[in-house]
Amino acid sequence: MKIGYVQFNPTFGDVERNLDRAEALIEGTKADLLVLPELFNTGYLITSKEEIGALAEEAPGGKTTQRLAAIAKKNHVHLVAGMAERSGEKIFNAAILVSPKGYVASYRKVHLFFEEKLWFDPGDGEFPVYDIGPCRVGIMVCFDWFFPESMRTLSLKGAQVVCHPSNLVLPYCQTAMVTRCLENRVFAVTANRTGTEQRGDKSLHYTGKSQITDTAGNILSRAGEDEECVGVFDIDPAKALDKQLNPHNNLFGDRRPSFYKDICR
Ligand code: ACM
Repeated sequence: MKIGYVQFNPTFGDVERNLDRAEALIEGTKADLLVLPELFNTGYLITSKEEIGALAEEAPGGKTTQRLAAIAKKNHVHLVAGMAERSGEKIFNAAILVSPKGYVASYRKVHLFFEEKLWFDPGDGEFPVYDIGPCRVGIMVCFDWFFPESMRTLSLKGAQVVCHPSNLVLPYCQTAMVTRCLENRVFAVTANRTGTEQRGDKSLHYTGKSQITDTAGNILSRAGEDEECVGVFDIDPAKALDKQLNPHNNLFGDRRPSFYKDICR
């Protein structure tokens, strides 16, 4: 199974341009599953609720979902991509999954980062896991990585590949994903963006270095900090089903949940 990331530098507010850029990067890529960055179609550095209200789209139904479905069909690929999702009065920082047959689902970011709390409603669903044929995939968005419960939950629910659309501004995630994958024995694709956004008196620099990490914590592919690129790696997703560390230790079998009650309070 070929899994990968699409790393690029979206332009704030220019949805058509960002969709075109993503499509150009994906075009001709041989992959079963590609992950795009968080808010890949709109950009990240929002300055008002009205602004993101105007950019948010329904999923399915909006032009971003329709365009991704067309790209997935043409390139015979599953896509996971971050976008602002409107649902009634609410706006979520979401990631959608589309298959070559069309829209599958939306995951709404559970752990909102910094000023996202001003613009978005917190995710209202559980961490989702979907069977896409060659394997089961889980979805989380950027800052969710900071909470080990996110990836643990996805892994306990059977995810073999964790799809991780991101707009990383701190330098820790790529290294931390080594441990997240090792402690859950799952693969992960962290798709980050590049560039700097300057809006009014605010500025954010994104750290690139999108990454594919394997079940043993090896980095299979890592992009540069500034390059726009697609990175793909051929994996055996069955490796993520084997939680046996040695003849005496099974990573999930050896868990002692009765000693962990405090983390569920
Ligand atoms: C982040 O969650 N975009 C840092």
